[in-house]
Amino acid sequence: ERGGYPHFMLKEIFEQPTTVENTMRGRLILEEGFSKLGGLNIPKEELLAVDNIIITACGTSWHSALIGEMMIEELCRIPVEVEYASEFRYRNPIVTPRTLCIVISQSGETADTLAAMREAKRRGARTLGLVNVVGSTIAREDDGGIYLHAGPEIGVASTKAFTSQVVALALFTLKLARLRDMSVERGRELAQALAKLPEQIQSILDRAGEIEEVAEEFKRASNFLYLGRGYNFPAALEGALKLKEISYIHAEGYPAAEMKHGPIALIDEMMPVVCIAPHDSVFDKITSNIQEVKARKGKIIAITTRDEPSLAGKLDYEFRVPETVDLLTPILASIPLQLLAYYIAVKRGCNVDQPRNLAKSVTVE
Ligand code: F6R
Repeated sequence: ERGGYPHFMLKEIFEQPTTVENTMRGRLILEEGFSKLGGLNIPKEELLAVDNIIITACGTSWHSALIGEMMIEELCRIPVEVEYASEFRYRNPIVTPRTLCIVISQSGETADTLAAMREAKRRGARTLGLVNVVGSTIAREDDGGIYLHAGPEIGVASTKAFTSQVVALALFTLKLARLRDMSVERGRELAQALAKLPEQIQSILDRAGEIEEVAEEFKRASNFLYLGRGYNFPAALEGALKLKEISYIHAEGYPAAEMKHGPIALIDEMMPVVCIAPHDSVFDKITSNIQEVKARKGKIIAITTRDEPSLAGKLDYEFRVPETVDLLTPILASIPLQLLAYYIAVKRGCNVDQPRNLAKSVTVE
């Protein structure tokens, strides 16, 4: 049932070209630069009247929410708030009839997320569920939804559900932006970038062996830092969470420029620092952060997209991912980070599919 893979987690990582494709199937209209989301269940007028969005989730799903926030704010110009589901209910949140509450959950059963959705509903928001498990409680109780269609995720560490969540958020953003003021050309550009993802993910997976070598080098580390900016700050948080939960190595994700406000004190030659640095709009900024880390002798593992003269000799390890539009870069950056966490955990003898103290679906508050 693991399809020849030693663990469900590895199988699920390798399924991503297909699962990402499945999330888009029948929904992406390339010629029109548009997306069709049959389950949204919101009349167009009502969707256009939405003046604020709250996205609520836990864990990995909360990380995809942060990426969604950036996408929606950039392309739809609607204010978005991301809330941990467990915090949302207890702070008298501002919800109006023009609030759309997006709820993200792989399982559709997470107790805190379900409770947050019920609270948003009670306060008059319209709810939209991004859920993987068909017929789960959140999927049954939301007003409308976008199923992820990633197939069953068995490994406790979420991988393929995460990339599908980000794709679903991009499809939603595309739809809303095009209904508002995004041009057909820009819509097409995003649609085409989405359509290329499966093949790009496959090209990364074909080079998994390179990541396994990096894992061998760093498997004995007791701390890791993950740095990213813009769309890849949430990818840094997610990379750190993957490593923590399955290898039990302490790891933290930071927006790269926050380093100098404290965490840089942690850096010495024993500290591996994973820097997510695709060639996007904040690339120049992150290269200077990389130099700050290198000047303190940190070990740099960089995720990049092209040759960069200013970084020559500064990177201890470099893994290239294909280029895409800024908002989709965290999807491609996440794949090597999932693999890194996986290989390190396996090399440390950890039970990657069932890490200690964790359950696949957290049904207690
Ligand atoms: C991490 C992980 C958890 C879940 C979280 C929410 O790999 O799997 O952080 O993301 O428990 O679960 P769902 O998405 O099922 O609501």
